[in-house]
Amino acid sequence: SKGGHASFMVKEMLEQPEAVRRTIQDRIGIDGSVRLDGLGIEESTFARINKVVVVACGTASYGGQIAKYAIERWCRIPVEVDLAHEFRYRTPLLDARTLVVAISQSGETMDTLMAVRYAREQGAVVLSICNTQGSTIARESNGVLHTLAGPEIAVASTKAFLAQVTANLLLALYLAQFRGSALREETFAVAKELRRIPDLIQRTLDRAGRVNALAADLREATSVLFIGRHVGFPVALEGALKLKELAYIHAEGFAAGELKHGAIALIDQGQPVIVIVPSLRHSSLLHAKVMSTIQEVKARGGWVVAVADDGDGVVAEWADEVIAVPESSPLLAPLLTTVPLQLFAAGLAAEKGLDVDQPRNLAKSVTVE
Ligand code: F6R
Repeated sequence: SKGGHASFMVKEMLEQPEAVRRTIQDRIGIDGSVRLDGLGIEESTFARINKVVVVACGTASYGGQIAKYAIERWCRIPVEVDLAHEFRYRTPLLDARTLVVAISQSGETMDTLMAVRYAREQGAVVLSICNTQGSTIARESNGVLHTLAGPEIAVASTKAFLAQVTANLLLALYLAQFRGSALREETFAVAKELRRIPDLIQRTLDRAGRVNALAADLREATSVLFIGRHVGFPVALEGALKLKELAYIHAEGFAAGELKHGAIALIDQGQPVIVIVPSLRHSSLLHAKVMSTIQEVKARGGWVVAVADDGDGVVAEWADEVIAVPESSPLLAPLLTTVPLQLFAAGLAAEKGLDVDQPRNLAKSVTVE
């Protein structure tokens, strides 16, 4: 049941603190040590991995891009992220030292399942990250790390996405801690911080009113661009996908630095651009780069909405609107910055009188290739 909410999607967005809390529970100790029991893959197997390939589709693939930043930083293992339906057609290099991470909420997505089968045929070790217990992808993998978001009914993924990002971070922290990391202290500190993230997600949800007002302002928009840098880039892609599928508005996500290589030609008077701003305190360099992108957009008449840290005293000078989220470590920020983008897409769909649970032309799980 919708539990009194306007839609399953609204209910599921509100369940995000709990979805993340359950995915973390028992997996991070109070000292920040990460344990992943019952994965079905031996530690000795994880110990000899020299490459990770993430395969997934849609929203799950954006979560996978966040895994790349985390695993490469903390574990120093090269990571590729592939759309599952492209993966086996490019003759990828796989062997017994390759860990393939297949991410799927449903565990039934045919494209992802075919990638899992292909990877196993090639002798790779497959770990799936699935939300549905006993799903086909989980059964056909060597091991499974479950996200514990609970059933997701709305077609557009929300709480499952935040749970996937959480599981990806847990995997990265786990690999880093037991294989040994040059950033050992950081991994323990971030793991401790991750335990507190559900409360920050709640605080972000509590600010929905401001996002809904923005959605009302942009009711007539025919195109919205999303830009981000570092992990803000996959968040931008996710924001754009949510807007397309729920509100049927043309939207695109770009890496902030890529804009000047072509897409900036799209910016004219009044073009809405939503910018995911990195934490000023944690990464002033990245922050400065994104500020200069905002200035480029503003100089061409763009209308900038920044999603930025509470503590960011600089962004307001440049952006037309600021949506503030609680401050966090850079790699945890997607768990917060995604939330206003989901609320925005759902708010715009509601403004247009659309059914957010059942967008046109879409099914909850895509079981054809
Ligand atoms: C978007 C969305 C889809 C799914 C994709 C993969 O909101 O829900 O992009 O993320 O179809 O589905 P799963 O995770 O079930 O494999």
